[in-house]
Amino acid sequence: MIQVDQLVKRYAGMTALHGLSFSVQKGEIVGFLGPNGAGKSTTMRILSCYMPPTSGTAIVAGYDTYKESLDVRKRIGYMPENVPLYPEMRVVEYLDFRAALKGVPRSERRSQIEKVAEKCGVKDVLRRIIGQLSKGYRQRVGLADTLIHDPELIILDEPTIGLDPNQIRQVRGLIKELGKSHTVLLSTHILPEVEMTCSRVIIINRGRIVASDTPENLKRLRKGGGETLLEIKAETAAVEEEFKALANVTQVEVTSLPDRYLQVVLHPKGDADLREAAYERVKARGWALRELRRHAQSLEDVFVQITTEDD
Ligand SMILES: Nc1ncnc2c1ncn2[C@@H]1O[C@H](COP(=O)(O)OP(=O)(O)OP(=O)(O)O)[C@@H](O)[C@H]1O
Ligand SMILES: [Mg+2]
Repeated sequence: MIQVDQLVKRYAGMTALHGLSFSVQKGEIVGFLGPNGAGKSTTMRILSCYMPPTSGTAIVAGYDTYKESLDVRKRIGYMPENVPLYPEMRVVEYLDFRAALKGVPRSERRSQIEKVAEKCGVKDVLRRIIGQLSKGYRQRVGLADTLIHDPELIILDEPTIGLDPNQIRQVRGLIKELGKSHTVLLSTHILPEVEMTCSRVIIINRGRIVASDTPENLKRLRKGGGETLLEIKAETAAVEEEFKALANVTQVEVTSLPDRYLQVVLHPKGDADLREAAYERVKARGWALRELRRHAQSLEDVFVQITTEDD
């Protein structure tokens, strides 16, 4: 569905993309991640034919974004970072105008508007003036606009920015739903969102791809994680002595908590699971224990590791 080859984008005085190559298959929901300024929006703008690359090619739905942009535009729905809406228009007028612009035949516009309004939760505000809507609702109108011509591929640049937690959940649900029948490329800084919706993640940093895999694989393949955390009532010296002697423990961190409990973090060798052995030691010593768990690596840990590695 997307085939990007050696994409380079130079703005006056700086290079935003240094030869990006990646592909997205039909039916995938791909999370496009990267720190501020990494080049996410730049890539998405090229894919959506909003600007040409300096060199390299982007093929979308079988068409070249530069040479066959009309064919590409028909097949994709793009929601930019700052959704440009006409504040003086009513929602229904705006969607009708956008549908016309995107070549939806007059006879189908009404039913298309109803369909996307239902999907995006803007049915109740169709008669309202856009400029008077809350930010979240304007965001939803932007999403409705993105879907109005029933595109095969949906490109969303930070679709949940500025939404409240309830709306974020709704939009996330909507994206998952859309993913059943569409291909989706979405950028976001909300990493739990990616773990919940995306089948694959592409991470870019300073205009280069630094990772591309399923969220599960990324978490597994990265170093770190797997620490065992305990909260026990005991003396620091005794705790250090006891756990340092344990097999597969590389480091023991002990912090005093205000209520005479200690928080203990055991770093494992490789991906050793230290929970059982740690519990045995606590039991043998007769220490009071109120928490014992293994710290799972989050996508956020992975993101931070990958995007700060060469600093
Ligand atoms: N029109 C432009 N002219 C000059 N430089 C630009 C322009 N647009 C973007 N850039 C630069 O290109 C780089 C990549 O920007 P881009 O907007 O693609 O990043 P991003 O990954 O979307 O970041 P964010 O997470 O902040 O949205 C940045 O250094 C940015 O300053
Ligand atoms: Mg951006």
